[in-house]
Amino acid sequence: MSKNTPSLCIILAAGKGTRMKSALPKVMHAIAGRPMLGHVIATAQEALSPHKTIIVLAEGMENVARTAQEALSTAEIAIQKQQLGTGDAVKAALPELAGFKGIAFVLYGDTPLIQPATLQAMRQALESTPEAGMAVLGMRPADPAAYGRLVLNTQGELERIIEFKDASTEERAIGLCNSGVMAFRAEHLSGWLQKLQNNNANQEYYLTDVVALARQDKLRCLVVEAPEEDMLGVNDRAQLAEAEAILQQRLRRRAMLNGVTLQDPASVYFSYDTEIGSDVVVEPHVYFGKGVRIANGVTIRAFSHFQDAVISDAAIIGPYARLRPGAKIGENAHIGNFVEIKQATIEKGAKVNHLSYVGDAHIGKGANIGAGTITCNYDGFQKHHTRVGDFAFIGSNTALVAPVEIGDSAIVGAGSVITEDVEADSLSMTRPTQIHRHGWAKQFRLKKKN
Ligand code: UD1
Ligand code: MG
Repeated sequence: MSKNTPSLCIILAAGKGTRMKSALPKVMHAIAGRPMLGHVIATAQEALSPHKTIIVLAEGMENVARTAQEALSTAEIAIQKQQLGTGDAVKAALPELAGFKGIAFVLYGDTPLIQPATLQAMRQALESTPEAGMAVLGMRPADPAAYGRLVLNTQGELERIIEFKDASTEERAIGLCNSGVMAFRAEHLSGWLQKLQNNNANQEYYLTDVVALARQDKLRCLVVEAPEEDMLGVNDRAQLAEAEAILQQRLRRRAMLNGVTLQDPASVYFSYDTEIGSDVVVEPHVYFGKGVRIANGVTIRAFSHFQDAVISDAAIIGPYARLRPGAKIGENAHIGNFVEIKQATIEKGAKVNHLSYVGDAHIGKGANIGAGTITCNYDGFQKHHTRVGDFAFIGSNTALVAPVEIGDSAIVGAGSVITEDVEADSLSMTRPTQIHRHGWAKQFRLKKKN
């Protein structure tokens, strides 16, 4: 295999995104649990392993810079002082390009669905065409709306890009549009950017004008096409929901092709990082938040909700289960309906089947936690730990007041409030003595009738 040309990525994210009507910068809005910018950074990383990744931000976008560096610790931040257009934004990144010889990609932070293979195809196109100075990623949307149009010459070669606002009626009739992603031979980029003018409808420095400048230099401008769906640009919340729907479809498909049965795929919501093994069956209406890992042969019954949870082989979860951060469910364990687990390990074969809250706890293997058992883990100031030994049996409607420990194979009687440790193999219960009055109910009713 030949070695790939070194590449570098510039991701534009300085725009305010006013149409989102949000206090949050646009690229921070999440799809499948990850900010859009994080998706773009990850895709570029996967496709190109770039030598450098530069995120162009406006001043004051510290939270975006943090998100970028969370996705890629080596990401560089360039600040565009005023938002004077996409060409001006790339200019802000130029100092980071000094001396770089290779391919410089420009991507948008608000186009999160771009696929790695598309970026690789652009690199490949430039690598195999030495007389080309750049490549533009085109698309043919069903509704070309306000996208820039790619104007080809009679040989079918890209001559220039015309922005919608500046386009004539004939130009607006062109179906081939600019998706926004471009790849340049880096050594030319700075010269072209210096020549950009802002004599257009928006009085902005358009990156798209670089095409005409490259043609003046007698360099070819290639067009690589991508499906419209991959290139959706998110400008408002309706498009955010569209992007979410497309990504969810991809994640569901990936899970199914990896051996997961989704009985009703459209009702299952994945996070970008959900890890799920084979022969897992997921019933309808299940939500996977961030950080969920599921082993093989697990059954997830309807209406369950997960976040930062780990589930081992052959466990059965739900219906109506909620696994919160730090839940670790062992092999063959059962978590039933209306059960909430937080920061707790449920060992192999243990059962918490009905109406329980288990938080800050360790439940030993084979233990049985009766219906309605609650760990009272919080005293209003601190969280305390509960430990239930292997094969212990906790009767229904028990309150385990932490910190407390139940020994191996101990039994706790139903309805108890356990405040002291219970030793292994013993019985413990707190329960008022039952009183019994023979015939009392009948007498009571007779008396009331008269
Ligand atoms: C741009 C393209 C258009 C293309 C469309 C695809 C130009 C001139 N036009 O138009 O041909 O069809 O994308 O979606 O490039 N940004 C900055 N600084 C700025 C301006 C923009 O960082 O000064 C960033 C934005 O945050 C955004 C991206 O650049 O991530 C695109 O900007 P936007 O204003 O949305 O461009 P469009 O008008 O959509
Ligand atoms: Mg846009």
